[in-house]
Amino acid sequence: MSKKITVFGATGNLGNRIIRELSRRGAQVQAIVRPGTDSEKIQTLQQSGAEVQEVDLTIVNALAQAVAGSHCVVSALAGLGEVIIDLQKRVLEATVQAGVPRFIPSDFCTDYTDLVPGENRNFDLRREFRSHLDRAPIQASSIFNGAFADILQYNTPILNLKDKSIGYWGDKADWKLDFTTMDDTAAFTAEVALDEESPRDLQIASFQVSPRSLWQDVKTATDQEFRLQPLSSLEDFAAFIKKQRADYPAGEQELYARWQQGQYMYSMFTTHHTKVANKRYPHLTWTSSLDFIRSFVR
Ligand SMILES: NC(=O)c1ccc[n+]([C@@H]2O[C@H](COP(=O)([O-])OP(=O)(O)OC[C@H]3O[C@@H](n4cnc5c(N)ncnc54)[C@H](OP(=O)(O)O)[C@@H]3O)[C@@H](O)[C@H]2O)c1
Repeated sequence: MSKKITVFGATGNLGNRIIRELSRRGAQVQAIVRPGTDSEKIQTLQQSGAEVQEVDLTIVNALAQAVAGSHCVVSALAGLGEVIIDLQKRVLEATVQAGVPRFIPSDFCTDYTDLVPGENRNFDLRREFRSHLDRAPIQASSIFNGAFADILQYNTPILNLKDKSIGYWGDKADWKLDFTTMDDTAAFTAEVALDEESPRDLQIASFQVSPRSLWQDVKTATDQEFRLQPLSSLEDFAAFIKKQRADYPAGEQELYARWQQGQYMYSMFTTHHTKVANKRYPHLTWTSSLDFIRSFVR
């Protein structure tokens, strides 16, 4: 009998892809969406093979009824405290109440477990939810994918296509940065959702690339030599982000305020994945840095 997997955040960018990957693997897929969700979004999920249920996400009993009979609940929800802590806590409580044995939280980021609390607001939210999850009588697996490789297209200081520059902080021109495409993350997540033996934490990366090797890949892909440039010390970067945050209080209500993007890049230059679990499911293939860069540069 195929396993039933329930996905929250299914209408999102990552959630949609997880639904597709689960369907491909023959799972019975259920997508929980908010009441009043756009009919086009619901149709897309149904076409991907999901059974869609609109559920009042404020009522734990309603959530428990919805997830009953699942083998695993996957959260790909995105948001600030009211989502990552409050909503995920209700979903977790309902999952436990319904007797579902496994839960995958919406981590999908750099492995923050070795990082210092207070350095990254969005990681702190995940850390707080993690402390609830680890007290709950349920088997949990977190997936740490580093940064979504997609950010390489958005002209950040790490790769700026307009300026033709590749930047790095400190003396870290050879420091490996973890990038995973959303599709690779979704495929791996589907495997984990179906894998009853999966461990608590799983680090992955489609590619681990240093600023210097990124420079080389960009050169190979474009035949152009971008500037490889040191930006500032990591200490100065941390101080800059702190000031940027203090100067922009409205960012506390924004998921991806500029200072939060800075915090993310800072984390990428202070920790990286050393126990990559890419080979756990040998049939999975991973996008290479060069193939990914070739997909968007000319
Ligand atoms: N590592 C990285 O570089 C990186 C980058 C981006 C995202 N992420 C992470 O990846 C995960 C998925 O992100 P994504 O980009 O796929 O997100 P997304 O496209 O913005 O989708 C967010 C999902 O959460 C749901 N949601 C948001 N607020 C909600 C609320 N208040 N109540 C109920 N549902 C709510 C949305 O439902 P509706 O459709 O109903 O709004 C949607 O299904 C998140 O953990 C995110 O932080 C990581």
